[in-house]
Amino acid sequence: MSTPTQHIDKDNLPQHIAIIMDGNGRWAKRHSKPRVWGHKNGVKAVRAVTEACAEIGVKYLTLYAFSKENWKRPEVEVNTLMRLFVNTVGSELKTLLKNNIRLKAIGDLDSLPKDTRRALLEAIDRTRSNSRMTLVLALSYSSRWEITQSSKRIAQAVQEGRLSVDEITEETFADHLSTQEIPDPELLIRTSGEYRISNFLMWQISYAELVFSETLWPDFGKEDLYQAIATYQGRERRFGMTGEQVSKS
Ligand code: IPE
Ligand code: IPE
Ligand code: MG
Repeated sequence: MSTPTQHIDKDNLPQHIAIIMDGNGRWAKRHSKPRVWGHKNGVKAVRAVTEACAEIGVKYLTLYAFSKENWKRPEVEVNTLMRLFVNTVGSELKTLLKNNIRLKAIGDLDSLPKDTRRALLEAIDRTRSNSRMTLVLALSYSSRWEITQSSKRIAQAVQEGRLSVDEITEETFADHLSTQEIPDPELLIRTSGEYRISNFLMWQISYAELVFSETLWPDFGKEDLYQAIATYQGRERRFGMTGEQVSKS
């Protein structure tokens, strides 16, 4: 089904969309190719979705590119992915600059190979003043890891007397996550017909609308994104209140 942008309410856009880009391996298998072929073709979908988000006015797009659990995959696949990140960040930098898009990364960046980290940090630095949209790559990311890191930093602040236990609020906690300064996603999309979170942004998606798409990531395009946004816009977000309370406000 096609959903042109005119079916999207521009006044009710999610400010932040997060995507679990899944299905590259199955896409490759369907084309009788090795899994890494699927990852290579996933880059086109990244480009399309980034462009679509920037065009319609989404301010933050977070893409789950590699989880901490993904280190358990076969070495050739991991190595190919790491090389793909370097090459893609390098080749897309010009486009990010031209389109005024700021790049950020969340995750255990210290665990990435040196050249991957270097390419990433350079692109982050070169795009840091861009203001149209922020593209956040989740790399070597896991939510439990992030929450543990946040807890450690808070404990450290208490130990050093910079913070008292009574002062710890939900805001304190959120401010110690790697997504500090980034609003929570209102919409989370997962592709490839899998219905799980896989350790992604578990704190931040507390009230996100979840949209699951059957499309495998390399086939996911602008139309699929518009469709997901239209689905989001058709939902009633109640935040614990009653439907009557929400429709009155
Ligand atoms: C998502 O596609 C990309 C990464 C996790 C890096 P998969 O590689 O998980 O594809 P499937 O789920 O095996 O089809
Ligand atoms: C989640 O996909 C991680 C990314 C998309 C980067 P996986 O394919 O690794 O998730 P599981 O293992 O099927 O839950
Ligand atoms: Mg998968």
